[in-house]
Amino acid sequence: MKENNRLRIIRGVRQMQALADRLRTQGRIGFVPTMGALHEGHLELVRVARKNADFTVVSIFVNPIQFGPKEDYRQYPRDFTRDRRLLAGLGVDVIFYPDVKAMYPEGFATYVEVERLTRYLCGRSRPGHFRGVTTVVAKLFNIVKPHVAVFGQKDAQQALVIRRMVRDLNFDLKIIVVPTVREPDGLALSSRNAYLTPEQRRQATVLYQALRLGERLIKSGETDPVRVKQVLRRLIRTQPEARIDYVEIVDTAWLEPVPRIQGEVLIALAVYFGRARLIDNLIVRAPQSGGKNS
Ligand code: PAF
Repeated sequence: MKENNRLRIIRGVRQMQALADRLRTQGRIGFVPTMGALHEGHLELVRVARKNADFTVVSIFVNPIQFGPKEDYRQYPRDFTRDRRLLAGLGVDVIFYPDVKAMYPEGFATYVEVERLTRYLCGRSRPGHFRGVTTVVAKLFNIVKPHVAVFGQKDAQQALVIRRMVRDLNFDLKIIVVPTVREPDGLALSSRNAYLTPEQRRQATVLYQALRLGERLIKSGETDPVRVKQVLRRLIRTQPEARIDYVEIVDTAWLEPVPRIQGEVLIALAVYFGRARLIDNLIVRAPQSGGKNS
């Protein structure tokens, strides 16, 4: 049963915890953690949360400890008024909107770190990033007290890392991962797409084209990850503004590079266009056997 359908904005940690305790006596809490600058991908997460719970809480917090010193923490897009309007339109019950001091008061010194899963991909390119993500998400889980939390598959490594943390630290909640929402031309929705110039935006469609090309190569029997990566890199480099951070083919359990493509693999890439670092990925299942290089 709903308490009432007014959208509440909560800024204090204790206030949020008290409200969560109250809501939990009346139903299930669905939670979507975000950094704001909401797009259709976030809104889809919210819809899924609403379907799976009685109350929906969305957090908006640009988490400083998941950004490296040279990354875009300061420039990260922020538009609370617009975010609030979008969330109100979706029937969200609570926005948890703390400031940095509320989340990291003077003397804060405890961090959560998931090992092994964070060795490659963004874990390698952005040292400390996942430590920042797992620390804030663990805190948010303790503050919002959700029964279910929803994340996007676009951040495939983040989703797996959080699943691992939930299992390893016995958080009593369910994680749901929602497929990536894409523009009609395949570009994955991301708050960082806002950084792209019209020309970079046009060129960025190469990311999804590369993923689909990788999928076709694997489906047609290519089992050598080095060859697939070479072809994908060559395609991405046809776009003059693209600067590749990584193109990787990893297993879907621990996200470790595979010596040979078999079973299920994740093709993952991170590419800069100007100051926008865009990531995307695709899970591909290789044909059973008898591939070109088997
Ligand atoms: O995916 C994001 O927007 C962030 O990494 C998250 C999960 C909200 C933690 O700050």
